[in-house]
Amino acid sequence: MPHITNIEDLRVLAKKRVPRMFYDYADSGSWTESTYRANEADFNRILLRQRVAVNMEGRSTRTRMAGQEVAMPVAIAPTGLTGMQHADGEILAARAAKKFGIPFTLSTMSICSIEDVARGTDHHPFWFQLYVMRDRGFIERLIDRAKAANCSALVLTLDLQILGQRHKDIKNGLSAPPKLTLPNILNLMTKPRWCLGMLGTQRRQFGNIVGHVKGVENMGSLAEWTAKQFDPALSWNDVEWIKKRWGGKLILKGVQDIEDARLAVDSGADAVIVSNHGGRQLDGAPSSISALPAIADAVGSRIEVHMDGGIRSGQHVLKAVALGARGTYIGRAMLYGLGAMGEAGVTRALEIIHKELDLSMAFCGRTDINTVDKGILLPGSWQHLESRQ
Ligand code: GLV
Repeated sequence: MPHITNIEDLRVLAKKRVPRMFYDYADSGSWTESTYRANEADFNRILLRQRVAVNMEGRSTRTRMAGQEVAMPVAIAPTGLTGMQHADGEILAARAAKKFGIPFTLSTMSICSIEDVARGTDHHPFWFQLYVMRDRGFIERLIDRAKAANCSALVLTLDLQILGQRHKDIKNGLSAPPKLTLPNILNLMTKPRWCLGMLGTQRRQFGNIVGHVKGVENMGSLAEWTAKQFDPALSWNDVEWIKKRWGGKLILKGVQDIEDARLAVDSGADAVIVSNHGGRQLDGAPSSISALPAIADAVGSRIEVHMDGGIRSGQHVLKAVALGARGTYIGRAMLYGLGAMGEAGVTRALEIIHKELDLSMAFCGRTDINTVDKGILLPGSWQHLESRQ
């Protein structure tokens, strides 16, 4: 794969190979997409401080996230409909993560089920992301299924009780599997690899839901399910209840505000993810990287602070770690790899990010990721981005 040297190469190839409605689902934000764009653009405004004549031998990017040893401070983010970017996508991405030595997080809204991923990875531990739905019995069953599948952390999403509007999904009539309308058939005819893959698998619906909820034998659209089933009344009491029921490592995803970060500490969670859901929920919210420093300063000594949103390179990971993140998550960078080349593409994405992280850390004069701090950033190059509250 000599022609694939960065995440952008994978994105371009994924765009060619993945049906438009699923590519668009991944590569989009809500409303004007200004927060979606800012997530990545703000990273690029932070400058690194080059050091020279420093011994660069014996480098390590190994660290820990939520008590787990990781090959680099990167986990795979939970992303909906991953198995529509490529047949059996969640299993393939989980295998790539396992081989690389980083956590894979399975979304509630995945195509492959919890059990599929457990079997597909020989029961290697993975993380499970939970949405809170009105049907508490279903939530209890999901938690129990995650426990039975050897999941080692629960990632509870707090910022998607109602769905932000993504124009492209509405216009494309997003559904899984895609409806066989004329425009969809014409588009699928240009994606032979994808179609072949899908013909070779049975996994074409929301695997954690269809067949597990009474009366739900097929369920096309995420938007419809969210509107009907997600609980808009989610509160910190529910977090407490879920923490008790789960009993293991709990990571709270979707915090942008210091006040919420403090409440997350009070809830007794193990980690909090500074996130705006990849710019897919509240358009107009600050970029994740600009929200990170204040939250890390306020609660970083009492809870592990992670971040996601806009990470397309190892340099972005390095900058997030410098600004206080103990770990980061990649969603789209993984999806582009998956859509482009299946498991090999996810592995390629991880290799690219790792190499960029390792070399950039060294250029900044550090050899151990655990020593990276604000000292590697050019003074004055990041404070202007900050959204202090
Ligand atoms: C979540 O599943 C999303 O579509 O952002």
